[in-house]
Amino acid sequence: MTRVKVRVPATSANLGPGFDVLGMALNLYNFIEMEATDGGLEIFVEGEGKGILPADSRSIVYEVAQKVFKTAGYSPRGIKITLTNSIPIARGLGSSAAALIGGAVAANELSGGKLSLEELINIASRMEGHPDNVVPAAVGGFTICINTEKDGIIFRKIDPPKVYAVAAVPFFELATKKARNVLPKMVSMGDAVFNIGRSSLLVYALQKGEFQLLKDVMQDRLHQPYRVSLVPGLEGVFEAALDAGALGVFLSGAGPTVIALVQEKDHIGRIKYSMKEAFSKHGVDCRLLELEPDAHGAVIMENDGGIV
Ligand code: HSE
Repeated sequence: MTRVKVRVPATSANLGPGFDVLGMALNLYNFIEMEATDGGLEIFVEGEGKGILPADSRSIVYEVAQKVFKTAGYSPRGIKITLTNSIPIARGLGSSAAALIGGAVAANELSGGKLSLEELINIASRMEGHPDNVVPAAVGGFTICINTEKDGIIFRKIDPPKVYAVAAVPFFELATKKARNVLPKMVSMGDAVFNIGRSSLLVYALQKGEFQLLKDVMQDRLHQPYRVSLVPGLEGVFEAALDAGALGVFLSGAGPTVIALVQEKDHIGRIKYSMKEAFSKHGVDCRLLELEPDAHGAVIMENDGGIV
């Protein structure tokens, strides 16, 4: 194998109460092409992150590829990577997880497919620091994951719910590190119980299609209240989306993107308008994306043998 092309989806982590545990893949994609060459390193970035993401050995796609090559015992003379990105950077839509798992899957295919998807997920999650974006980017759908000392990441996937995800993506970036630094080191028993209950019922609601539960079960006390200070207008956007008919609404990952889940297609226009207006009251301009859950995760699109 000398050449491979991988498609990898955007993801939304937490979904309200499931901090660092729940995630969902969305139908917005990055493409990673990786080729073994005669020598040197070439990296090209198109689309989101062009001129911003490092196009040299600091690229996280290259870094994860190196780890996979080493584990697989493969050493290409040179490598060419072409990234064609649609996932906005540092907006809470899993761009770094997509780069890491997409890069890991591509590198694994190039080195003969020696590592399992679980091994790739563990490598990418260790680099990312938490698994809740990496897992849905790898396998698609709605996912639940835990990190264990002995067995690494354990996860399960539920078929994605039949809903639309309206994403209000502010024009400003928010680094995950900054958004994690505002979180407390300790939380109260009351807040922990508040989230455990909602997170558990959220899994049930999405699995059974009991969407009327989402408004309540997407509430959170572990991260969103602390991140309000970093996303001007957050509470107003939540309220506006619910008033306009959203099933549930949450800060996507570490933010600043807000996602409203919607059942009826003809509610989407009204919800988009109300989220944009609520953000603009706080001087925040945003773009609006109409997305749907992705069921597949990272997919090998092409290799030496042609279209897969
Ligand atoms: N669970 C993570 C957080 C997702 O909220 O910080 C961000 O990548």
